[in-house]
Amino acid sequence: MSAAPLLEVRELSLAFRTRGGTVRALDRVSLTLGPGETLGIVGESGSGKSVLAYAVMGLQDRAGRLTGGAVLWRGRRIDRLGEAALRRLRGPEMAMIFQSPRAALNPIRRIGDQLADVLRAHRPLGRAAARAEAAAMLAQVRIPDPAARLAAYPFELSGGMCQRVMIALALACAPALLIADEPTTGLDVTTQAAIMDLLRGLARGRGMATILITHDLGLAAAHCDRIAVMHAGQLVETGPTAAVFAAPLHPYARALARSVPGPETTLATLETVPGSLPDLSAPDLPACRYAGRCPQAQPRCRTEAPPAVPGAAGQVARCWNPGP
Ligand SMILES: Nc1ncnc2c1ncn2[C@@H]1O[C@H](COP(=O)(O)OP(=O)(O)O)[C@@H](O)[C@H]1O
Ligand SMILES: [Mg+2]
Repeated sequence: MSAAPLLEVRELSLAFRTRGGTVRALDRVSLTLGPGETLGIVGESGSGKSVLAYAVMGLQDRAGRLTGGAVLWRGRRIDRLGEAALRRLRGPEMAMIFQSPRAALNPIRRIGDQLADVLRAHRPLGRAAARAEAAAMLAQVRIPDPAARLAAYPFELSGGMCQRVMIALALACAPALLIADEPTTGLDVTTQAAIMDLLRGLARGRGMATILITHDLGLAAAHCDRIAVMHAGQLVETGPTAAVFAAPLHPYARALARSVPGPETTLATLETVPGSLPDLSAPDLPACRYAGRCPQAQPRCRTEAPPAVPGAAGQVARCWNPGP
């Protein structure tokens, strides 16, 4: 028997109760991740990427409820753990960086104090040792003059520097998994590239697994071993990056893959996927939530959950009518 994967998400469903009805944000999502692996989760805005990440971390919104399935960490269920047990996992085992670093940093505490807090919450460090370690962490995320930066407040730093501080915070306890949710959105192109290089170097150096959540398919293709494509809360295709981009099986994955900018792409050939996401609070959501947009939809796509269909290159699609 092979060892348990680091992370396993099994048929996970999650719903939000809102005034407008029940938003079924995740529908039987399954994925696995091994140590040191890099998984890209891609899909349009609103497809459930962030909700999935929060659910893995046990951070879901109060209105959100897991309605089925399980999350396993190193073979052990964690979706029913209490807050104290979750807090012991977050940091040393899994950590997350968010789209908006300024929102995640405390605006009225110095960078050095925030780093020292995280370090001392998990390790028996004295003040001076925690401070020295915090400076070393800032150096590791290539913040210039780290000792002086410890005294800075978030508002004194640029967006890119804040993102580096958040990466340092996330990595402070050397997690086995880093979830990066749109880590470079809102940064200029040069800073984006620098942050991605930094993340990749740190992940490789530490043998850390990474989940990169992005709506930027080019970014996912460049940085990930495997890709998971989400649509409207369902995972429609997973597989090795090259397979999912070169030979996607699911019609949505195919439509997305066509929209990835390549060396020969011109603006005219760039396609976006026609139609829009269905309303996740609609009581009559089709079994395959892509059915309403899919040129290959059949009647049973609306009524029966699609099977998992394997492709030749290791990709797996959930579809009644896969392939070109
Ligand atoms: N707290 C919440 N209450 C109600 N609906 C929510 C909440 N958080 C997210 N959603 C809904 O869940 C769906 C998925 O959202 P999200 O995971 O943020 O998408 P993505 O990260 O892929 O852009 C969206 O329809 C969104 O409106
Ligand atoms: Mg998101």
